[in-house]
Amino acid sequence: MPSASSRAAERPARDPSATSCRKAQGVAAQGVAVVSACASEFGEEFCGDLRRLMEWRRDVRRFRIDPVDEVVLRAALDAFDLAPSVGNSQPWRLVRVESAQARRMVRESFERCNAEALAATDPARADLYARLKLSGLREAPVQLAVFCDAATDQGHGLGSRTMPEALVHSVSGAVALFALCARAHGLGVGWVSILDPDEVTAALDVPADWTLVSYLCIGYPCEADDVPELERAGWQSRKATSLLMR
Ligand SMILES: Cc1cc2nc3c(=O)[nH]c(=O)nc-3n(C[C@H](O)[C@H](O)[C@H](O)COP(=O)(O)O)c2cc1C
Repeated sequence: MPSASSRAAERPARDPSATSCRKAQGVAAQGVAVVSACASEFGEEFCGDLRRLMEWRRDVRRFRIDPVDEVVLRAALDAFDLAPSVGNSQPWRLVRVESAQARRMVRESFERCNAEALAATDPARADLYARLKLSGLREAPVQLAVFCDAATDQGHGLGSRTMPEALVHSVSGAVALFALCARAHGLGVGWVSILDPDEVTAALDVPADWTLVSYLCIGYPCEADDVPELERAGWQSRKATSLLMR
């Protein structure tokens, strides 16, 4: 991973209030006095590395075609066993998609959905949309469909009675941890949602009551960057997250 400083010179200075894990300047952006942003057993160096990992995690659509080291993949997949979930329900169900037929069906679903999305795009942005690469489905050596099994008994319903969507949120959170862990191990992950979930569910022959949360393309990325590809392509830049106070 390039060092943060090697890229820092090429981009505008970031809002220092967005930079965690630095020695506290006295008062944080929201006016809350802090002693140290890193006063934990992990220490300042680890916090800096974690920040750098988050900066350099990207949604990846351009993969090298060489196979992924299974040991590395396994280490990244451990993130699912460590992820939080409502009631400790662990409602994620992972399907590694290997068969050529299943991959073709997923790709066809993507191509159809993407064409429909392009047709529905504001004409002023349609040319740009058409130029975006929005999946690595053709190249990614590893592909993983991640479902939510909302019927699971695990967790005994704790926490999801009033918010049943907490189960799907749990799956999304686990995917985010997996993507970070994969990046730490040198793997790129690309989340594909431009799919018809019913088509994917049928293509993979999984229970119809599982909900597709995420279809992940995984492999060694062709490039590293600390700026999202959609931002570099001029589609959408990031904005600072605001914090309402009540
Ligand atoms: C729920 C979800 C669905 C996404 N679906 C797609 C997708 O179908 N195709 C795509 O190219 N990127 C997809 N992305 C990736 C986002 O475009 C990407 O996260 C965003 O542009 C920020 O870039 P970054 O992840 O590199 O920081 C998805 C991301 C999330 C969280």
